Amino acid sequence: PTIYAITPTYYRPAQKAELTRLSHLFMLLPHLHWIIVEDSNTTTPLVKNLLQRAGLEKRSTQLNIKTPPEFKLQGKDPNWIKPRGVEQRNLALSWLRSHVDVDRHSIVFFMDDDNSYSTELFAEISKIQRGRVGVWPVGLVGGLMVEKPILNEDGTQVTGFNAAWRPERPFPIDMAAFAISMDLFIRNPQAIFSYEVQRGYQESEILRHLTTRDQLQPLANACRDVLVWHTRTEKTKLTAEVALQKQNKHSDAGMEV
Ligand code: UGA
Ligand code: MN
Repeated sequence: PTIYAITPTYYRPAQKAELTRLSHLFMLLPHLHWIIVEDSNTTTPLVKNLLQRAGLEKRSTQLNIKTPPEFKLQGKDPNWIKPRGVEQRNLALSWLRSHVDVDRHSIVFFMDDDNSYSTELFAEISKIQRGRVGVWPVGLVGGLMVEKPILNEDGTQVTGFNAAWRPERPFPIDMAAFAISMDLFIRNPQAIFSYEVQRGYQESEILRHLTTRDQLQPLANACRDVLVWHTRTEKTKLTAEVALQKQNKHSDAGMEV
């Protein structure tokens, strides 16, 4: 099946580095179609050129939609006060609902631009059956080494989760912990992301429309393997660059970094 990877992304100094890493992963994955949604008023040449250089122009879609200012994080806000990627993921879902061939099995996966993904994860995602949501462990998230589903004795059903942070959530898992059979989005047009949810409830918000705990499909060696890590990139320090700018100089004059 085709895997549709949905990635919200926004401009900051490390953006090109993050997207280059992802694009090179996708070069290894011919059955993947990348929907990259920029949090901006226009699509940018940075993203367009990057897709071209990775040879992904035929299996990618470049979209854009800006997060409304009232929902955008401000300079000193801690990153957790507002949900990120809501607008962008919803635009990608509406694009998919009107563009995919519903008779063909395909799978949707929401990918942050800064996580670390193994190619092996995508072999697992390909096993997701029509009408189901696949789940697996995610490393380095929620204050734990690994957040993972807990399975029944024969490893076929999810009976719980090991989450330490807000374990009372309907689905106490990270965005990187699941992928969804596309037919579920067609059958459930009300399934979209929302700003009107508590912190950490984005995943539960989308999943509650689509599945129940006992219908989840455990993957990654009965949830014993970690194939994705919720890494986060530190904010780039640019003190010397700012000093240069005061003299009207730029280390990157005429270059794209
Ligand atoms: C965690 C989850 O892994 C995210 O999938 C979830 O959206 C987020 O929490 C949330 O609660 O909203 P975290 O690492 O804290 O992720 O979030 P980021 O990686 O900073 O952002 C998630 C995605 O949204 C990234 O692909 C990022 O590029 C994008 N984003 C972020 C925007 O498009 N615009 C922004 O202003 C900020
Ligand atoms: Mn992230």
